[in-house]
Amino acid sequence: MTGPFTIVPHRSGSYPLYVGAGILGELPSIVGRVSDAALAVVVTSRRLEPLFGDAIAGAFARAGRSAKLVTFDEGEDRKTLATAGGIVDALIALGAKRDTVVIAAGGGVVGDTAGFAASIFLRGVDLVHVPTTLLAMVDSSIGGKVAVNHPSGKNLIGSFHQPAAVVSDVDLLATLPPRELLSGTFEALKSGVIGDRELFELLEGGEAPGGPLLEEVIRRSAAVKVAIVSGDERESGDRRLLNYGHTIGHALEAATGYGAVTHGEAVAWGMIGANAVASGRGLLSFDVARRIDAAVLAHGPAPLPPLDRGEVVRALEHDKKFVSSRRVMALPRAVGRCTVDEVEMGEIESGIDAAIAASAGEVRA
Ligand SMILES: NC(=O)c1ccc[n+]([C@@H]2O[C@H](COP(=O)([O-])OP(=O)(O)OC[C@H]3O[C@@H](n4cnc5c(N)ncnc54)[C@H](O)[C@@H]3O)[C@@H](O)[C@H]2O)c1
Repeated sequence: MTGPFTIVPHRSGSYPLYVGAGILGELPSIVGRVSDAALAVVVTSRRLEPLFGDAIAGAFARAGRSAKLVTFDEGEDRKTLATAGGIVDALIALGAKRDTVVIAAGGGVVGDTAGFAASIFLRGVDLVHVPTTLLAMVDSSIGGKVAVNHPSGKNLIGSFHQPAAVVSDVDLLATLPPRELLSGTFEALKSGVIGDRELFELLEGGEAPGGPLLEEVIRRSAAVKVAIVSGDERESGDRRLLNYGHTIGHALEAATGYGAVTHGEAVAWGMIGANAVASGRGLLSFDVARRIDAAVLAHGPAPLPPLDRGEVVRALEHDKKFVSSRRVMALPRAVGRCTVDEVEMGEIESGIDAAIAASAGEVRA
């Protein structure tokens, strides 16, 4: 029996995080250890169910338990209150009561939507995340944030609902499209810059992580996120470090209409923008900024479609995290160390220019 990789503490308890190759078969016993729920409901997407629905059902059958299945049509545009409501309808139709555990199996979209449904059904039932993308393993399944989108913005409707466990089976990534692996790789690179120099160096050469390296990358990235979220559950302090690359990245994503580049690619360009801001104010040496930029570019993020700074600034002005308080950005000071600093709009504009220029292939002088 695999032991947890780590235990994630939070305000009202803690949960185990499992990382390993082939551990999906242990899901029923892990669920049994963390939840005394009588009914297990696997929530996944119609697209993903053929990939691992049978494996999960088979694991429960071998353990002498049964798990019900609920599927929905996923996609960033389906990460809505209506979809979460549909999941709640399905739980009610299954006769689910408080002693239900929702097992959210999928990428960040499934985890966020099914997790949000679990957080509102009967004021919250047990939730176990089974992330199936690299991004979900290193980022979205950890930390207890669950949300759906509103027509006026991403993740505007959500809750904090800590999982009872997270089970990351690295083997599930075998079917992940290369571009989705790349998207998660940029989140891992981000974690390296924030808090783990060796993780950064593992990824610096630009090779796509695979085999034992992939597991190492997941463990190290998850450890960075765990260290930060367990000290700051509700994003008032250190948790903002995780926004490195995201302030400009989110605005790039919104300005390009979501989908032109993946979330991780937008973060990649946003990291280059943040590096320019950090070196512009003398927090980061020019050489280290160039080193991080080079690591990002070595992985080959898809270029941004043509856009001008004004569109990105307008998108930034809609960012709930950015406008709700002072204008702060997570800025690197070295590989493995970031701080959260208050910035001027002009500095951010120069960061946006740097990101757009890098995407266009221009090297900073
Ligand atoms: N809650 C949080 O803290 C948090 C943090 C970061 C991101 N997010 C959210 O996560 C979402 C992005 O997540 P994502 O990058 O995982 O994207 P995603 O969930 O859209 O998955 C990407 C694609 O990969 C497919 N896929 C998933 N697993 C697969 C597998 N094993 N094999 C083959 N295909 C597979 C999906 O069907 C989808 O087409 C966004 O909605 C974002 O807002 C949440």
